[in-house]
Amino acid sequence: MAPPAPSYTKVTHTATYAGINPTQPGLSTAGKVVLITGASGGIGRATASSFAASGPRALILLGRRAEALAETAAIVRGSHPEVTVQTHEAELCDASSVRDIMNKVAAEFGGIDILIHCAGVLAPVVPLLEADPATFLDGYKTTVVGSLVTAQAVVLANKTVSPNEDKPITFINLTTAGIIFPPFPGMGAYVSSKMAAVKVLQSFAVENPQVRLHNVHPGFLETAMSAKLSESIKLPFAFDEISLPADFLVWIVSPEAEFLKNKIVFSAWDVDELKARKNEIVGGPPGTGELWLGYQGFPRFMGGQALPGTQ
Ligand SMILES: NC(=O)c1ccc[n+]([C@@H]2O[C@H](COP(=O)([O-])OP(=O)(O)OC[C@H]3O[C@@H](n4cnc5c(N)ncnc54)[C@H](OP(=O)(O)O)[C@@H]3O)[C@@H](O)[C@H]2O)c1
Repeated sequence: MAPPAPSYTKVTHTATYAGINPTQPGLSTAGKVVLITGASGGIGRATASSFAASGPRALILLGRRAEALAETAAIVRGSHPEVTVQTHEAELCDASSVRDIMNKVAAEFGGIDILIHCAGVLAPVVPLLEADPATFLDGYKTTVVGSLVTAQAVVLANKTVSPNEDKPITFINLTTAGIIFPPFPGMGAYVSSKMAAVKVLQSFAVENPQVRLHNVHPGFLETAMSAKLSESIKLPFAFDEISLPADFLVWIVSPEAEFLKNKIVFSAWDVDELKARKNEIVGGPPGTGELWLGYQGFPRFMGGQALPGTQ
């Protein structure tokens, strides 16, 4: 049996549970416009159904494959006929087409409130000694440039309908635990591209304070991406049920999870424990707080004064 993955919380989950049930009133997205990238398959498709259960004003689904997107829309309409669902074919590296789509959505619905960025690609899984420098950045394109294009497009689209105020947007980026785990052979290109995307989005959120950014490791799911990965390597973790990230993503955009903004969290972590540790997670003086990308042991001093807890 595969060993459990390391965790921040004592209790971990492998499937959905009461605390992240999207039908509970605290997780309602009533009146909100939710846009999901990568909705044509995998985690994005499952996430569409979870958000539908939370009662949004509209659910906007993006992907490149029209048929697969239509399939997601049919699944959602089948279980939640009351939800307005739109599909849009989009290549995320094509900035003008992504901006065009988001501008149209914003014009029709008065803006976009929540963006769940599930689109992703697996950069080639090869030892770095064998990686082809001529094509190495190809694996970065969707992950890094696509994430930037998505973030720019949603902020710009909201500005077209709310020019006098910066309309708040909750932006959820799907990352991987690999960015904080010890290096795993063969995963260098993928993990470094996912780290670059987190850094780009963190900078973007600082420059645009209306962006509430969360980075989420969804778990280990059986999807097209993990099937591709398994052709090259086997990760030492068991699969989770796709209901876990799908429902967790509804929880993370809720008001009760706002304290986790700018943090990196795993879907598997128990939300009651996270809420109970709010003060430790948020922290106080520089260098305190948890679940952020830092540099262990730093900082120790500011202006020659030892920081609390460093002596
Ligand atoms: N599965 C896991 O165990 C796992 C673990 C850790 C992190 N993640 C992350 O979770 C996210 C979702 O992964 P997944 O397993 O659901 O992957 P997936 O099944 O391969 O789905 C990826 C989605 O991204 C879309 N996409 C890919 N390239 C695109 C592009 N250039 N433009 C627009 N859309 C594009 C694809 O849609 P089209 O082909 O229709 O464009 C597809 O719907 C990714 O960010 C991944 O890195 C997954």
